Amino acid sequence: MKKTTYLASMALLGALSSMAWQPVLAQKSSADAIAEYRAALQDGNPADLNTVRGEVLWKTARGPNNVSLEQCDLGVGVGKVKGAVTKLPRYFTDTKRVMDVESRLVHCMVTLQGFKADEFTTKTAFSGEGQRATVIEDLVAYIYDESRDMPISVPQGHAAEKASYARGKKIFFFKGGPYDFSCASCHSQDDKRIRLQDLPNLTKPEPAKAAFAQWPAYRVSQGALRTMQWRMYDCFRQQRFPEMTYLSPTSVDLITFLGVNAKDGKMAAPAIKR
Ligand code: HEC
Repeated sequence: MKKTTYLASMALLGALSSMAWQPVLAQKSSADAIAEYRAALQDGNPADLNTVRGEVLWKTARGPNNVSLEQCDLGVGVGKVKGAVTKLPRYFTDTKRVMDVESRLVHCMVTLQGFKADEFTTKTAFSGEGQRATVIEDLVAYIYDESRDMPISVPQGHAAEKASYARGKKIFFFKGGPYDFSCASCHSQDDKRIRLQDLPNLTKPEPAKAAFAQWPAYRVSQGALRTMQWRMYDCFRQQRFPEMTYLSPTSVDLITFLGVNAKDGKMAAPAIKR
């Protein structure tokens, strides 16, 4: 990151935190400041480091079988990474399942490299506070970065893909838990906010495109790259639902729902977020 950009963003960060305690009146200007802050950081996204490490990991022989991931088929052909994330989740004939980016990546790490499927959990896939990025986080950053600026086109040709979308939609609107929340409770109105965070209306095309296009993202507040699986996990937590299992069918269905609704958005991940 350029030093001037860094200083500018630190100044903005300072401004943001001093605004945090101010009442409602400050909210509009806080949102503007956050937008400015994001723009200032965009050309120096710390996720670039994840991307670089991820590319090395992809090409390095690893795991019990000591092979690289270069023979992995992410859905656009063996060894091809470019464009893959614009078409995921999708149905794979070899596993007879609809898989999202992380499910497919883990599948390759298991089948090609010989890792054990049960090694991949929220504890091993998501880095903890202050810890270095996980292998999954770095690999995911690389895989997404290869599709930057490409149009989103999550397929709905196969019956299993349609079923996944239908379930995802149902889950999105399903109310439950101690507060009787659904995803839609927080994400189906315009200009809604929790604390200082904008709550995107994910039922509208433009915010739906932006949300899908911008995850995974580097979270400045957490100093870490966060994946789409993490995003689902954390919103489930905010909804006070039972803890979401890494790569669970529910997570994949929700991502399918979000991905199909984001059609023709332009991939911009890893992005940077507050
Ligand atoms: C209690 C409110 C709440 C519920 C319920 C909730 N979310 Fe969220 N969601 C948030 C907040 C807050 C953010 C923004 C976090 C931030 O900016 O740090 C967010 C962000 C997101 C984003 C990223 C949007 C973007 O543009 O970056 C997606 C996608 C998302 N939520 C999906 C879901 C899904 C799917 C569900 C249901 C499983 C859900 N959310 C349930 C509060 C909620």
